[in-house]
Amino acid sequence: MKISIISGSHRNPSQSEKIGRYIESLFQNEFTDVAPFLYLLADNPLPLWDQSVWESDEKWIKRLAPLKERFSNSDAFVIITPEWHGQVPAGLKNLFLLFNRFELGHKPAFIISVSSGNGGAYPVAELRMSSYKNNRLCYIPEQLIIRDVENVFNDNAEDNDEKSDIYYKERLHWCLNILLGYGKALKTMRDETEIHNDKFSNGM
Ligand SMILES: Cc1cc2nc3c(=O)[nH]c(=O)nc-3n(C[C@H](O)[C@H](O)[C@H](O)COP(=O)(O)O)c2cc1C
Repeated sequence: MKISIISGSHRNPSQSEKIGRYIESLFQNEFTDVAPFLYLLADNPLPLWDQSVWESDEKWIKRLAPLKERFSNSDAFVIITPEWHGQVPAGLKNLFLLFNRFELGHKPAFIISVSSGNGGAYPVAELRMSSYKNNRLCYIPEQLIIRDVENVFNDNAEDNDEKSDIYYKERLHWCLNILLGYGKALKTMRDETEIHNDKFSNGM
């Protein structure tokens, strides 16, 4: 199964990237038959959407083609977002303007939010409310809010709060298995269902 992991922070390096790299190596080392693709929004690799995206602009076609291929071939997504001023970073919302139902539609996605403090709930609510309507990404019910993120998932065990680190890692593993289950189930659903109807190309 192919899974794209998207790290939504513009920072370089970032805590979101740290979590993304952990999940990438977890898939590589502890799951069989999962091919992860980690995509980082660090340093803003994607310019902001502009009108020429809808006018078949050559620059945009070239820029987006490799990612379109990766995302189209993915069976599931992990979306990692920090909480920035109570919001999802603009670069991640921009990504949802640039990719559509043909890449993301009716595929399961697992939300992970990170906060250096006690935040992390707002970006989960924002993604669930306003990032899937037209692209039809299916957020699964499980989510992970990693609070005090700087004290967990560090390579050096001494930098971790041991109790929280164990708890988050166990819970993450369990959630990823659930994501795989949805990945299999929704592939069957997509194969057996007419999911694209140009009359209803956008969600309501
Ligand atoms: C611009 C900015 C705004 C932030 N706003 C919040 C916030 O509203 N709530 C919160 O819990 N943490 C906030 N933080 C702290 C982040 O939780 C912390 O920096 C975390 O590491 C961000 O994830 P990142 O490293 O993946 O970007 C903010 C950080 C930045 C850079």
